[in-house]
Amino acid sequence: MKAITRRSLLAGVAGTGLVATAGFRANLFRAEAAEGQPLRIPELIDARSKGNTISLTAQAGRTTFFSGIESATRGFNGSYLGPTLRLHRSDEVEIAVTNAMRETTAVHWHGLLVPAEADGGPHQPIEPGATWRPRMKIDQPAATLWYHAHMHGETARQVYGGLAGMILVADEAEKALGLPSTYGVDDLPLIVQDKIFEDDRLIYPRHSMFLMHGMRGDTILVNGTPNALARVPRGLARLRLVNGSNARVYDFSFSDDRNFYWIASDAGLLEQPLPRRSLWLAPGQRAELLVDFSDGRAVSLRTGPDPTFGMSMMGMMSAMGDSLSNSAEVVRFTPQGEPAAQVRIPNRLVARELVDPAKVSQRRRFVLTMGHGMMGRGGMGVMRGGMGMMGMFGINGRPFDMGRIDQTVRLGDTEIWEVTGEMMAHPFHIHGVHFEVLSRAGSGPETEDSALRDTVLVQEPVELLVRFTQPAAHGPFMSHCHTLEHEDAGMMGQFKTTGQA
Ligand code: C2O
Ligand code: CU
Ligand code: CU
Repeated sequence: MKAITRRSLLAGVAGTGLVATAGFRANLFRAEAAEGQPLRIPELIDARSKGNTISLTAQAGRTTFFSGIESATRGFNGSYLGPTLRLHRSDEVEIAVTNAMRETTAVHWHGLLVPAEADGGPHQPIEPGATWRPRMKIDQPAATLWYHAHMHGETARQVYGGLAGMILVADEAEKALGLPSTYGVDDLPLIVQDKIFEDDRLIYPRHSMFLMHGMRGDTILVNGTPNALARVPRGLARLRLVNGSNARVYDFSFSDDRNFYWIASDAGLLEQPLPRRSLWLAPGQRAELLVDFSDGRAVSLRTGPDPTFGMSMMGMMSAMGDSLSNSAEVVRFTPQGEPAAQVRIPNRLVARELVDPAKVSQRRRFVLTMGHGMMGRGGMGVMRGGMGMMGMFGINGRPFDMGRIDQTVRLGDTEIWEVTGEMMAHPFHIHGVHFEVLSRAGSGPETEDSALRDTVLVQEPVELLVRFTQPAAHGPFMSHCHTLEHEDAGMMGQFKTTGQA
């Protein structure tokens, strides 16, 4: 995966002459000075304890991130982010989503395999005061998923403001493995997001640079907690990471460079735990890790600089210094109590259902377009106008159009989607499916690509093997760049599935 990015921005954005004049104060020293705040753990709603009927209310509120200062935020059933929803395989659930805000929203279940009308894309808007009640049969392996706002043109701002939460799908195969599963104790939800604060108040700068490359911030929040500090038992813990950032790609590792086990990707558990020292996570992606804290030593989960964010761009952002997208501490762990008697890592996790590449019925090509070529022709004048550049973003040169179906796929078919990204790495996401990465830049997939995904980082071409199992009788599914500013600006398309599986 390193190849895609080193070449990426360095080559693509160099020489564009983009000059940033940031109107905010970078909080360079705050992280060092602070003692740390206890990690916030979102409330857990187990669907079965509610008779499989869950209520979510999207609302505006005020949240204190730094003592004494309130920020205007949004959340579900609270002021920032939402409860974690535990859903059980083979159950049928109803989620009633009420919009108590003064603006329209839509709420998408990212990674859930459900028919298009329950998927919560821009075709299921929820007007102020209205309630949307999708009923869904949960039928997929145990996994860490998430839900978030998906109102076209407003997704970046609404998600940044706090409209996101975690979903845990549980099943028998996962239970039988005996993985750490005490929510909030040794099974930790970690929604990682980067933000910008001005005088300790959360802001969303509408600067053209953020529209162009996606919003990147200098302050990392985990479940809405800055300088997060988590107590964990002295033993094995399971970290469920969701990259809920608008644009930043994380390069996670531990401050003492300890080994951990990567056990699950977007679609659920891997076949076996993979020992790692670092792991990338692009916006929209999830990962589950097993970490051994039995030595009792305090250690931090940290991130390296955004690997897709080239040095040339850092240079252009001189006004912001090195504060954006730098290495940073994500969450500090302090192990507590008696050391665990033993720490057991299972040899095998789950058997994976493979998609048969012999069954491929079609190959389609997608280029995530940023108006490449305009740069050399004085395009920066357009860009300084901010919104003026919006027409440049699209897929295969066409910006998103709610009224246009871009692809029609036969239900049950397997296809190869070959996806390329212009100018920089883009996290490409397809609704309603989990796919395999067959190749990257003409060779085998990188480690991060292994396992089923619904979101993948793309610049040099990747080939995705996709099987379409979910019907779209009433409205289409989306496929898009998960850099939310790109998505809002038109880097999104829609496909229908037709016929019988
Ligand atoms: Cu996570 Cu279409 O989105
Ligand atoms: Cu999705
Ligand atoms: Cu993009």
